[in-house]
Parts: sequence; C-alpha cells; structure tokens
Amino acid sequence: MTTSTTESRALDEVKIGGLGSSRKRVEDDRFIRGKGNYVDDVVLPGMLHMEILRSPLPHARIKSIDTSRAWAIPGVHLVLTGEMMATRNLAWMPTLSYDTQAVLATDKVRFQGQEVACVIADDPYIAKDACEAIEVDYEPLPVIVNPVQGLAPDAPVIRDDKVGQADNVVYHWEVGDQAGTDRAFEQADVISTLECHYPRSHPSPIECCGSVADFNRATSKLTFYVTSQAPHIVRAAVAMVAELPEQMIRVISPDIGGGFGNKVPIYPGYVCSILASILLERPVKWIEDKTGNLISTGFARDVYLKGEMALRRDGKILAFRMHTDADHGAFFADAQPSKFKIGLMHSAFAAYDVPVAHLTARGVYTNKAPGGVAYRCSFRVTEAMFFQERMVQAAADDLGIDQAEFRRMNFVADDDFPHRTPLGFLTDSGQYAKCLDVGLQAIGYENFKAEQAQARQRGKLLGLGISTMTEPLGAGNSREYDILGIKMFDSAEIKVHMSGKAIVRTGAKTQGQGHETTWAQIVAHELGIPADDVVVEEGDTDTAPFGMGTYASRSTPVAGAAVAMAARKIRAKARKLAAHLLEVSEEDIEWELGRFYVRSSPQRGASIQECAMAAYSNMPDGMEPGLENTSFYDPPNLTWPFAVYIVTVEVDPETGVWDVLRMVAVDDCGVRINPMIVEGQIMGGLTEAYAMASMQFITFDADGNCVGSNYMDYLLPTAWETPGFELHSEVVTPCPHHPIGAKGIGECAAVGGPAAFVNAVMDALGETGVRNIDMPVLPDRVWEALTYRRDVSGHPPVRQD
Ligand code: CDP
Repeated sequence: MTTSTTESRALDEVKIGGLGSSRKRVEDDRFIRGKGNYVDDVVLPGMLHMEILRSPLPHARIKSIDTSRAWAIPGVHLVLTGEMMATRNLAWMPTLSYDTQAVLATDKVRFQGQEVACVIADDPYIAKDACEAIEVDYEPLPVIVNPVQGLAPDAPVIRDDKVGQADNVVYHWEVGDQAGTDRAFEQADVISTLECHYPRSHPSPIECCGSVADFNRATSKLTFYVTSQAPHIVRAAVAMVAELPEQMIRVISPDIGGGFGNKVPIYPGYVCSILASILLERPVKWIEDKTGNLISTGFARDVYLKGEMALRRDGKILAFRMHTDADHGAFFADAQPSKFKIGLMHSAFAAYDVPVAHLTARGVYTNKAPGGVAYRCSFRVTEAMFFQERMVQAAADDLGIDQAEFRRMNFVADDDFPHRTPLGFLTDSGQYAKCLDVGLQAIGYENFKAEQAQARQRGKLLGLGISTMTEPLGAGNSREYDILGIKMFDSAEIKVHMSGKAIVRTGAKTQGQGHETTWAQIVAHELGIPADDVVVEEGDTDTAPFGMGTYASRSTPVAGAAVAMAARKIRAKARKLAAHLLEVSEEDIEWELGRFYVRSSPQRGASIQECAMAAYSNMPDGMEPGLENTSFYDPPNLTWPFAVYIVTVEVDPETGVWDVLRMVAVDDCGVRINPMIVEGQIMGGLTEAYAMASMQFITFDADGNCVGSNYMDYLLPTAWETPGFELHSEVVTPCPHHPIGAKGIGECAAVGGPAAFVNAVMDALGETGVRNIDMPVLPDRVWEALTYRRDVSGHPPVRQD
C-alpha cells in the first residue's frame, strides 16, 4: 500500500490553478508563436480549391447560366451550379430555424452576394478566374430592403419558392398577457413611448468562414474541417442534408479566429465543398474572403423596436408592451430555440419588477443576406436589453425622476428570487441595487451631476448614461430549449491517467474564450489535480462527447457544469479507491483539496494521484478498473448574470462629435473561474458595444447594394478609438443551481454596453427635447438632432418610386 503519511493539508487552490486563479491562457502560447492551427492551415495531399460565384444583384430571376468557358480553363476540375445540385436534391438545404435556404440559386437570386455557382480547381486563383468566366443572364426584379417595404400590400413575394407563401412574413409570435397589459395601461398616470431601430451589424470575426472536405471513397468516411462553433450540429446537419451515415462523418473544428455567432449557421460553401469532394474523390478547400464574409454570412440585429411603458406618477412601472419587426433577409437561417421565434427577446425587463407585459414580434423577408444571428448575444437578448434601457431612460425623463433612482425603485429585490418575469422566465439570483451603488460610487454620480449643470452654463454638453442588463445564459434546459428538435444540453468527459494527469473533452468549442485554460481550472477545483496537469480538447466529433456548441455564453453554464459533474463522479470513485488504500470504510473518509484522509487520523491520507494509480494497479475486488467519466448536464435553469454600465461623455455642440470621458462596468457573473479571462471578456464586449453605438452599421442602398462590404466602410475600433474601461468585480452572487456557482459572462458587456453610450449622449442633449438618435450615434446625427431639435432615425432609405 502506498499512502501519504504527512499531516492533513489541503492544497492551495489558487496555486494549483483552481477557481479564482488568474492563470495565463495556455492556448496563447501557440497563438503568440504563430503556431495556431486554423482551417486554412490544413493542407492535404491532392487538395483542390473552391471559389464561389456570387450574385451582383439582390433580386433577379436567373434566365440562364453558361459555364462552358469556365470548364475550358486549364486546371478546372468541376463547375457546380444549382441545376447540378438539384439533381442530387442539394439545391436547397434546411436551415436551423425550420426554413429552407438555397445552396446554389436555381430559380432566383434573393440577395446581393448569394451563391450562384462554384468552381473547383488546382488553386484558388484559377478557381476565381473561372468563376468570372461563368455567364449568368439575370432578369432584375423589384428590391425590398426593409420590413416596411416587405409588408406593403403590393410587395413582390421574395420566397415564391415556398408553397403557400403569399407575402413576406416569416412569422408572427406573441407572448404575455395582452388583456392584463391593456388594463394596466388604462390605470397609468403617464405612458412613455419609444421607437428605434437596432441597426444591422456583422460579427466580423478576423478569420472568415472556411472548410476542407475530405471524402475517402475507400473507407466511405468524410472528414470535414470547418470553422464551426458547433461541430456536432454540423455533423448532424451534414448527415441530414448530404444523406451520409452520421458515424461516417468526422467534423473537426480546429483553432478558430473568432466566431461571435457568425460561425453557428451552416453555409452553402460547406455543402458545396462536401459534394465536390465526394464527386472528385479529392480533398476540397474553401476559404471565404473578407467581402464574401461581410456580405453573405449571418448578419445580426436589424430590428425595428416600438414600445410603451405604463407608469404611476411615483415612478412604479405598471406594465410594458413591445412590438418588433425583425428583418431576416431572404432566408430565416440563424439558430433559434424552436419554441421562441424571436429568440429570447422576451427577456426584456427581466431585472425590473413589472407586473404584466405583452410582446408581439414579426419576422420579415427582405432582399438581404440571412440575418438574425446572435452576435455575441443570446438569441436577441441584445436588442431586448438595449430597448429596455433606452425606454427606462425615456420614462425617467418623462416622470422627472432621477434615472438611477428610477431604476433602483423598480429593480427586483435581492430577496425576491427566484423571480418570475412578466414574460415567463424565472430569474435565479442577483444584487441589482448593490451593483448600481458600486457603479454610481465609482463614477462619482452626484459630483458629475453638479459638474454637468455648471458645464451647461458654459455651453459645454456633458452627459451620463446608465445601462443595466441581465440575460438568460446557458440554454437549455432541455424541457424548453431545442434547435431543430435537438434538445439543448451538454456533456463532458474526463479521463484521469494512472499518473494522475488528466484529459478533458467537451462538446463546446472555444473560439478565443479560453476553455483550454478554464475547464482545467474546474478540474483543479473539484479534484485537486493541478490545472497544468490537465489538458483540454474540443472540436473533434470523433473524440469529444456530444454538445450543442459554444454561443450564447452557454459554455460555462452548461459544458463547464458538465465538467464539474464529471469530476465529482470521478471523485466519488476515487473515494472508494482511497478507502481501499487506507484500509478503512468509505464512511470514515474525508476529502480536502487533492487528498482523502481518515477522519479519526488525518495524517493518514491518499492523494488523488495515488488513487489514480490504484485505479489501474490496485483496485478493490469487483471494481471496474480506470478513472474516467462522461457526464451529461441538463441545466435546471438558465444562469442570470447582471451588470451595470455607466458612461460619461462630452458632446461638441458645434460638430456633434462626442468623446467618452469615463466608463465604469460592474459585472456580477457569480463565481469567477479565472478573473483575468473574465475581465478580458468584459473588455472585448465593451469594445464591441462602443463600436456598435458609435461607428458600425451595414446598410443597403435603395437598389439593395450592400454598403459595408469591407473594412473601409464597416469600421472596427482599434486601441486608438476605444475608450478606457474601469472594471469592478466586488459584487458576486453565486448561481444557486450551477455546480460551482458560475454564471455566463462572454457576451454581457456587448449586450448591455450599447445603451449606456447612447443614453449618455441623449443625457447630454437633455434640454433639446430630443428623444432618440438611432445607432450608430454618428456626429452628423447628433449635429442634426442638436440643430433641428428633432429625433434622428437611422432607418434605411425607403424606396419612393
Ligand atoms: O460560451 P462562452 O465560452 O462564449 O462564454 P462563457 O461561458 O461566459 O465563458 C467565457 C470565458 O470566461 C470562458 O473561458 C469561461 O470559462 C470564463 N468564465 C469564467 O472564468 N468565470 C465565469 N463565471 C464565467 C466565465
């Protein structure tokens, strides 16, 4: 028997890289050395290259496609058209939202940039030249670029391919209590209204989408390398679309250069590269260029929001009602929990104690690339939180109540959890007022208000904007959440080797969030195995257990919880091994970090490493050898982080230019696994929030041309433009149902941040009576609002003819 004889002592959790340790990201070592392994780094023997011909027109009937000149170019192996795809039943594919999407257009093109044909050639340059040699005869059709046009009675029907589709409506959805809400509005002292547009934006990861399909005729196995945030979903989709047996499909998502929701959908390029590899029996690589990514892959937002709040004179919110029109582009293609057509938009006002509410939502087809992707967002929560916080500020102004005080008096109280929101969620925990107080204290609220009043007298415009957010992170549970009928849960597998080192695999897929670092920290916390002794692997469907992937900040709430649960099951088995080693009964054994010991004799113990060795060399009679576990985790509820963001700005009344003076962020995401990574997530999210509020939008001209197909038009903020952020972590409300008390954090700042910036500018304009400037709050819009004392709408142009 090998046992420790030292005094009882638990390991120092932070030293072994457990919870609360800001251990450096282990994945960065290879990234900093330029040794990442992205899809474009995959080079296989005999590999060919694919390029896509895209439509220059947003809406046109295809009269003919002549590919003869392309076929004649030396080095061209295959030219694919919609007609050829149709012979294999692959011209259309199902989307993740129960719609269909053209893989290669057959009848019409429905957005500028739509996939029309593909060329597979010896190298990408030949393939590109051959694409240009394809002649397509188009008959242009009237174009629809926004829901107003799409809903007009005489609007052309974009989806005339769908049997029974007589208009451009994708869905109507409603939730809440309409009659109760109407009654509450009848009793209101004040009704506050707001209308605005959350503009179309793009997640724009630095790495574009791409794939390498490698079909091996001899083994009938397809290996598919792809930039996917959800490799298991890709495997299921490929099995369905290409009718290949699922066990013969191996999907590998190698390193990913950012996803932000853009790498959740299944894109036509994936399907074409797979078919080409099957037909040619050679590996086929497709790497999208930046313009292709910016004009044809999943867009986000583009939602028209309209709402009203019923208020009592003393500041109590009695009810709210909202209507949204979402511009989904030509195909409803983003992932959506199937019960909730507009995603989780109904999380609006979840942090406020509102007795009753009603929400209606309508989706509209337009001649744009598919939209509605949850860009750093849990299925439309960003739009919900933005509108909530803009409305709250408008209501406080209407009532003449201080905006911080108005929020505080309407927050759900700390002892009111779990709290049922008026639109049906059950929030888990929070200390909302405390977060607000920390933020106000940090920004010096009262001093700023005095400074603001003095500055106004000198003709200087200062403003302070507050935004709060809570969001449902961690879909499922499986009772309520599914995508295409596949229930939302996750799993994790841990194998502890005989030396006490371990490997963790999950069905999540990191794209920069640092799972390789933080999952090892959870194992260190649960088992006392130093994080440096734990390797984490994700993204290979042949080795990783099933999971729904990484988006909607669901990894820590679901896959992270699965890691903790698998570790606990391993610890339970290790306890039996320890009892065997120490020759006592299991009931006499205690656990401290890294070690079991005998309760009556604490110096007699067995470390987790000693138990691991015993699992392979000295197990008790009847025990299965080995020390490993796969755990499936179906969360009992979503996790509900909370945050307060406060921004101060100075607006130049001459030019409308506004500068951020300070930004304070107070995030409560429960227990922080790695505080440094959490801060990185918050800073990244705030940077994106600032970009959305101040400079980013992708618009379309009246003819449906996409303006914003490159980084000269679609702006990414650099360190130069981005303001400094002051982060506060003092409020920690552990999640009551997550095994380690963690809540999601990845997208909170991107969700909650934009309204803080807009509210700050609106506050600076306070005395003008201007109620709304749509994002991005560009200087010319601010100037227009100041000069003409009117709201400025950023709605795309509506065709006059
Ligand atoms: O799903 P996604 O990874 O995008 O988001 P997340 O679950 O919020 O996690 C983002 C990163 O922050 C991961 O590395 C997490 O493990 C880490 N995190 C943390 O350290 N503590 C938390 N309470 C939440 C997340």
